[in-house]
Amino acid sequence: MNSKCTRYIKSLAVASLLLSLFIVLPIQAQETEQQREARMKWWTEARFGMFIHWGLYAMPARHEWVKNRERMTDEDYQKYFELFNPDLYNPEEWARDAKNAGMKYFVVTTKHHEGFCLWDSKYTDYKSTNTPYGKDLIKPMVNAFRNEGIRVGFYYSLIDWHHPEYPVDSRHPMRDNKEFREKTKDRDVRKYAEYLYNQVRELLTEFGQIDCLFLDFSFPGKDGKGRDDWQSEKLLKMIRQIQPNVVLNDRLDLLDVPGGWDFRTPEQYMPREWVTVNGKKVPWETCQTFSGSWGYYRDETTWKSTRQLIVLLTETVSKGGNLLLNVGPTARGTFDNRAKDRLNEIGEWMKLHGRSIYGCTQAPEEFIAPEDCILTYNPETRRLYVHVLDWPMGRLHLDGFAGRVKYAQLLNDASEVRFSQRRLRLGAGISRETLTLQLPVTKPGVAVPVIELFLQ
Ligand code: GLC
Repeated sequence: MNSKCTRYIKSLAVASLLLSLFIVLPIQAQETEQQREARMKWWTEARFGMFIHWGLYAMPARHEWVKNRERMTDEDYQKYFELFNPDLYNPEEWARDAKNAGMKYFVVTTKHHEGFCLWDSKYTDYKSTNTPYGKDLIKPMVNAFRNEGIRVGFYYSLIDWHHPEYPVDSRHPMRDNKEFREKTKDRDVRKYAEYLYNQVRELLTEFGQIDCLFLDFSFPGKDGKGRDDWQSEKLLKMIRQIQPNVVLNDRLDLLDVPGGWDFRTPEQYMPREWVTVNGKKVPWETCQTFSGSWGYYRDETTWKSTRQLIVLLTETVSKGGNLLLNVGPTARGTFDNRAKDRLNEIGEWMKLHGRSIYGCTQAPEEFIAPEDCILTYNPETRRLYVHVLDWPMGRLHLDGFAGRVKYAQLLNDASEVRFSQRRLRLGAGISRETLTLQLPVTKPGVAVPVIELFLQ
């Protein structure tokens, strides 16, 4: 063989190796940290989104796990499917409510664990188009939210308590029913995995750009399900290929796989500090409910107050995270008044204080929050925000801030806050450079007042 020919063959081999690497490895595995940050920039800056849990479980109105909790059979549950008719559903109104509350993205349950699909999937009959309502619920929702400039996210349950090939496991409504277990022991999880693959692909191809994807959830181990059951790696590859910009959650059981997740998802609790993995700070989003349930729960009364919710949002941002706040619409298709009131009030606060939330993050380490205050920081504008939870009498001392602030104002009305600076002698040779804000005696008339500090 002449050398030209050998060279040609060699370069072909190199090219095909490169190509196969590219195809085999998930795209994100080759992403640098900067590229990932750029892909997630909109999400990190958004800070505040709306979760929507909606499905047949809105009818029993006693938790989205009702089928499981009450060990209902498919037959027991069928009545909800046969009667589902959210006649007042008006997604434009939902989108307006989210927008007014200051939310920048939304994530809706296209299918929850009950298996009911809110869109016209070609892989099942168990969908909204076959209920008395008769229409796809997702398409108009996506359009309505997009029209308000809100980014689109899909929640999809990996778990499925209705699919005929989904093997009964420790979380299944029929788990204690020996007869049922016996009767269904030949269910083939590979067939279910194919269904789930097809549905996720459908969701990622039929609705335009999908900005976030929330897959829920894995519980590997005995009588559980994890990456082998879901075929998570195959799924991941497809997701990254079809929607390379999507921001993906962490419940596919792929925590150790490069590109297997984009953010961690602490649920219903506030992490004590910025969430880390192997000692490194990572993007995170806490999902939280207004009250104890995700689906509409008529008689649940542990609703958080607006103030609590604002503090929740602020504290989340102060630790570098996002808040995904959940609404469980009713079976008529409406947000109930408890949710509406809170969204409205949060919106009032956000209109004046969005600047201390969007694009903000944890304050640089040298700034320690004084008692009853939460700090957030915008690294681009270099402004620091002091959220004052308990309005002090006239003065607020900021230890260590002296010499670092050039101007201070209340954020709600941009009125100047004057300050003085001095060295505080604490005895025993210790002293602190303290900046003292001179606050009005009367607390500003907002849920949580914020002082904006312009750094030197
Ligand atoms: C849990 C629950 C579920 C809820 C979800 C939200 O995994 O199973 O009902 O949808 O968390 O993060």
